[in-house]
Amino acid sequence: MVDVAVLISGGGTNLQALIDACAQDDFPANIVKVFSNNPDVLGLERAKKAGIDTQVINHRDYESREAFDEKLHAEITACGAKLICLAGFMRILDARFVNRWKNRMLNIHPSLLPAFRGLHTQERALEAGVRFSGCTAHFVNPELDDGPIITQAAIAINPDETAEELAARVLELEHIIYPQALKLVAEGRVRVANHRVRISNAEYADQSIVNPKPE
Ligand code: GAR
Repeated sequence: MVDVAVLISGGGTNLQALIDACAQDDFPANIVKVFSNNPDVLGLERAKKAGIDTQVINHRDYESREAFDEKLHAEITACGAKLICLAGFMRILDARFVNRWKNRMLNIHPSLLPAFRGLHTQERALEAGVRFSGCTAHFVNPELDDGPIITQAAIAINPDETAEELAARVLELEHIIYPQALKLVAEGRVRVANHRVRISNAEYADQSIVNPKPE
Protein backbone atom coordinates (compact mmCIF):
# COMPACT_ATOMS: atom_id res chain seq x y z
CA MET A 1 0.00 0.00 0.00
CA VAL A 2 1.46 3.33 -1.07
CA ASP A 3 0.63 6.48 0.87
CA VAL A 4 -0.32 9.41 -1.35
CA ALA A 5 -0.77 13.15 -0.82
CA VAL A 6 -3.23 14.89 -3.15
CA LEU A 7 -2.83 18.59 -3.95
CA ILE A 8 -5.87 20.58 -5.07
CA SER A 9 -6.91 24.15 -5.75
CA GLY A 10 -10.61 23.81 -6.45
CA GLY A 11 -13.63 21.59 -6.89
CA GLY A 12 -11.76 18.33 -6.70
CA THR A 13 -13.69 16.03 -9.01
CA ASN A 14 -10.42 14.26 -9.83
CA LEU A 15 -9.71 14.04 -6.11
CA GLN A 16 -13.14 12.39 -5.75
CA ALA A 17 -12.25 9.86 -8.45
CA LEU A 18 -9.04 9.04 -6.56
CA ILE A 19 -10.92 8.80 -3.24
CA ASP A 20 -13.43 6.41 -4.81
CA ALA A 21 -10.67 4.28 -6.34
CA CYS A 22 -8.73 4.11 -3.07
CA ALA A 23 -11.88 2.92 -1.31
CA GLN A 24 -11.82 -0.28 -3.36
CA ASP A 25 -10.45 -3.26 -1.47
CA ASP A 26 -7.67 -4.19 -3.87
CA PHE A 27 -6.49 -0.65 -4.71
CA PRO A 28 -2.75 -0.33 -3.96
CA ALA A 29 -2.76 3.32 -2.81
CA ASN A 30 -4.13 5.22 0.15
CA ILE A 31 -4.68 8.98 0.40
CA VAL A 32 -3.10 10.12 3.66
CA LYS A 33 -3.68 13.84 3.29
CA VAL A 34 -5.19 16.44 0.97
CA PHE A 35 -3.52 19.82 0.65
CA SER A 36 -5.12 22.92 -0.86
CA ASN A 37 -3.54 26.28 -1.60
CA ASN A 38 -7.03 27.80 -1.48
CA PRO A 39 -9.26 27.81 1.58
CA ASP A 40 -12.99 27.10 1.24
CA VAL A 41 -12.87 24.92 -1.85
CA LEU A 42 -15.25 22.04 -2.43
CA GLY A 43 -12.36 19.60 -2.74
CA LEU A 44 -11.56 20.04 0.95
CA GLU A 45 -15.14 19.08 1.83
CA ARG A 46 -14.85 15.98 -0.34
CA ALA A 47 -11.74 14.93 1.59
CA LYS A 48 -13.29 15.61 5.00
CA LYS A 49 -16.40 13.65 4.03
CA ALA A 50 -14.15 10.69 3.21
CA GLY A 51 -12.39 11.02 6.58
CA ILE A 52 -9.12 12.20 5.06
CA ASP A 53 -6.86 14.66 6.85
CA THR A 54 -6.71 18.10 5.15
CA GLN A 55 -4.45 21.13 5.32
CA VAL A 56 -4.66 24.54 3.69
CA ILE A 57 -1.32 26.07 2.78
CA ASN A 58 -2.33 29.40 1.33
CA HIS A 59 0.27 30.67 -1.13
CA ARG A 60 -0.82 34.25 -0.36
CA ASP A 61 0.72 33.83 3.11
CA TYR A 62 4.21 33.27 1.67
CA GLU A 63 6.44 35.96 0.32
CA SER A 64 8.03 33.81 -2.35
CA ARG A 65 7.26 30.74 -4.44
CA GLU A 66 10.29 29.03 -2.89
CA ALA A 67 9.03 29.63 0.66
CA PHE A 68 5.59 28.23 -0.23
CA ASP A 69 7.10 25.19 -1.94
CA GLU A 70 9.44 24.57 0.99
CA LYS A 71 6.51 24.53 3.43
CA LEU A 72 4.55 22.25 1.12
CA HIS A 73 7.46 19.83 0.83
CA ALA A 74 7.97 19.76 4.61
CA GLU A 75 4.30 19.04 5.30
CA ILE A 76 4.00 16.38 2.61
CA THR A 77 7.10 14.65 3.92
CA ALA A 78 5.77 14.90 7.49
CA CYS A 79 2.52 13.14 6.59
CA GLY A 80 4.48 10.18 5.26
CA ALA A 81 3.31 10.36 1.65
CA LYS A 82 5.54 8.59 -0.86
CA LEU A 83 3.68 9.83 -3.94
CA ILE A 84 1.97 13.11 -4.84
CA CYS A 85 -1.06 13.46 -7.10
CA LEU A 86 -1.77 16.95 -8.41
CA ALA A 87 -5.52 17.09 -8.97
CA GLY A 88 -6.42 20.48 -10.38
CA PHE A 89 -3.57 22.08 -8.43
CA MET A 90 -3.15 25.40 -10.21
CA ARG A 91 0.17 26.58 -8.80
CA ILE A 92 3.45 26.22 -10.65
CA LEU A 93 5.91 24.32 -8.46
CA ASP A 94 9.57 25.33 -8.62
CA ALA A 95 12.22 23.05 -10.10
CA ARG A 96 13.71 22.25 -6.69
CA PHE A 97 10.37 20.91 -5.45
CA VAL A 98 9.69 19.02 -8.67
CA ASN A 99 13.13 17.42 -8.70
CA ARG A 100 12.73 16.26 -5.11
CA TRP A 101 9.62 14.37 -6.23
CA LYS A 102 10.96 13.22 -9.58
CA ASN A 103 8.93 10.30 -10.92
CA ARG A 104 6.93 10.34 -7.70
CA MET A 105 4.55 13.19 -8.59
CA LEU A 106 1.65 12.71 -11.01
CA ASN A 107 -0.56 15.25 -12.74
CA ILE A 108 -3.76 15.09 -14.76
CA HIS A 109 -4.13 17.54 -17.62
CA PRO A 110 -7.14 18.05 -19.93
CA SER A 111 -5.41 17.68 -23.29
CA LEU A 112 -3.49 15.15 -25.32
CA LEU A 113 -0.05 16.34 -24.26
CA PRO A 114 2.27 17.65 -25.55
CA ALA A 115 -0.50 19.60 -27.31
CA PHE A 116 -2.26 22.40 -25.44
CA ARG A 117 -0.31 22.83 -22.24
CA GLY A 118 -1.63 25.46 -19.84
CA LEU A 119 -5.15 26.82 -19.51
CA HIS A 120 -8.28 26.92 -21.70
CA THR A 121 -7.30 23.73 -23.44
CA GLN A 122 -10.68 22.89 -24.99
CA GLU A 123 -11.21 26.41 -26.36
CA ARG A 124 -7.79 26.19 -27.97
CA ALA A 125 -8.46 22.70 -29.32
CA LEU A 126 -11.69 23.92 -30.95
CA GLU A 127 -9.94 27.00 -32.35
CA ALA A 128 -7.18 24.85 -33.79
CA GLY A 129 -9.73 22.59 -35.45
CA VAL A 130 -8.16 19.40 -34.16
CA ARG A 131 -10.35 16.32 -34.48
CA PHE A 132 -9.54 14.72 -31.14
CA SER A 133 -9.28 15.93 -27.59
CA GLY A 134 -8.57 14.03 -24.43
CA CYS A 135 -6.52 13.97 -21.30
CA THR A 136 -3.15 12.87 -20.04
CA ALA A 137 -1.88 11.49 -16.75
CA HIS A 138 1.85 12.09 -16.51
CA PHE A 139 4.80 12.46 -14.19
CA VAL A 140 5.66 16.09 -13.47
CA ASN A 141 8.70 17.80 -14.92
CA PRO A 142 9.79 21.33 -14.04
CA GLU A 143 8.21 22.61 -17.27
CA LEU A 144 4.47 23.35 -17.19
CA ASP A 145 2.26 20.35 -18.03
CA ASP A 146 5.25 18.35 -19.16
CA GLY A 147 6.76 15.00 -18.24
CA PRO A 148 6.66 11.29 -19.07
CA ILE A 149 3.17 10.21 -20.12
CA ILE A 150 1.62 7.38 -18.11
CA THR A 151 -1.92 7.12 -19.54
CA GLN A 152 -3.98 9.02 -22.09
CA ALA A 153 -7.53 8.92 -23.33
CA ALA A 154 -8.86 10.45 -26.55
CA ILE A 155 -12.31 11.37 -27.78
CA ALA A 156 -13.49 12.59 -31.17
CA ILE A 157 -14.61 16.22 -31.11
CA ASN A 158 -18.19 16.79 -32.22
CA PRO A 159 -18.26 19.61 -34.78
CA ASP A 160 -20.98 21.57 -33.01
CA GLU A 161 -20.05 21.18 -29.37
CA THR A 162 -18.96 24.05 -27.16
CA ALA A 163 -15.75 24.18 -25.16
CA GLU A 164 -17.80 23.63 -22.00
CA GLU A 165 -19.45 20.51 -23.41
CA LEU A 166 -16.12 19.16 -24.58
CA ALA A 167 -14.49 19.92 -21.21
CA ALA A 168 -17.25 18.02 -19.41
CA ARG A 169 -16.75 14.97 -21.64
CA VAL A 170 -12.98 15.12 -21.16
CA LEU A 171 -13.40 15.45 -17.39
CA GLU A 172 -15.26 12.11 -17.36
CA LEU A 173 -12.22 10.56 -19.01
CA GLU A 174 -9.89 12.16 -16.50
CA HIS A 175 -11.81 10.38 -13.76
CA ILE A 176 -11.13 7.07 -15.50
CA ILE A 177 -7.47 7.40 -16.41
CA TYR A 178 -6.13 9.18 -13.33
CA PRO A 179 -6.96 6.35 -10.92
CA GLN A 180 -5.62 3.92 -13.54
CA ALA A 181 -2.32 5.79 -13.67
CA LEU A 182 -2.04 5.94 -9.89
CA LYS A 183 -2.74 2.21 -9.69
CA LEU A 184 -0.02 1.42 -12.19
CA VAL A 185 2.53 3.58 -10.38
CA ALA A 186 1.56 2.29 -6.92
CA GLU A 187 1.90 -1.29 -8.14
CA GLY A 188 5.43 -0.53 -9.23
CA ARG A 189 4.68 -1.35 -12.86
CA VAL A 190 5.84 1.98 -14.26
CA ARG A 191 9.44 2.64 -15.26
CA VAL A 192 10.78 5.82 -16.79
CA ALA A 193 13.63 5.61 -19.29
CA ASN A 194 14.69 8.38 -21.66
CA HIS A 195 11.67 10.46 -20.63
CA ARG A 196 9.31 7.70 -21.69
CA VAL A 197 7.15 5.45 -19.55
CA ARG A 198 7.28 1.69 -19.86
CA ILE A 199 4.55 -0.35 -18.23
CA SER A 200 5.87 -3.73 -17.25
CA ASN A 201 2.85 -6.01 -17.15
CA ALA A 202 1.21 -7.09 -20.40
CA GLU A 203 -2.24 -6.74 -18.85
CA TYR A 204 -1.56 -3.04 -18.62
CA ALA A 205 0.45 -2.66 -21.79
CA ASP A 206 -2.22 -0.71 -23.63
CA GLN A 207 -3.62 1.89 -21.31
CA SER A 208 -4.60 4.40 -23.93
CA ILE A 209 -8.29 4.43 -24.62
CA VAL A 210 -10.35 6.00 -27.37
CA ASN A 211 -14.00 6.89 -26.87
CA PRO A 212 -14.30 4.73 -23.79
CA LYS A 213 -17.70 3.86 -22.46
CA PRO A 214 -17.66 4.53 -18.73
CA GLU A 215 -19.42 1.74 -16.81
C1 GAR B 1 -9.17 19.26 -14.38
O1 GAR B 1 -9.76 19.35 -15.65
C2 GAR B 1 -7.67 19.06 -14.50
O2 GAR B 1 -7.31 18.27 -15.59
C3 GAR B 1 -7.22 20.48 -14.69
O3 GAR B 1 -7.98 21.22 -13.78
C4 GAR B 1 -9.25 20.60 -13.64
C5 GAR B 1 -9.51 20.40 -12.16
O4 GAR B 1 -10.81 19.89 -11.93
N1 GAR B 1 -5.79 20.59 -14.47
C6 GAR B 1 -4.98 21.33 -15.21
O5 GAR B 1 -5.37 22.04 -16.11
C7 GAR B 1 -3.52 21.22 -14.84
N2 GAR B 1 -2.72 21.90 -15.81
P1 GAR B 1 -11.17 19.16 -10.57
O6 GAR B 1 -10.78 20.13 -9.45
O7 GAR B 1 -12.66 18.99 -10.66
O8 GAR B 1 -10.41 17.88 -10.51
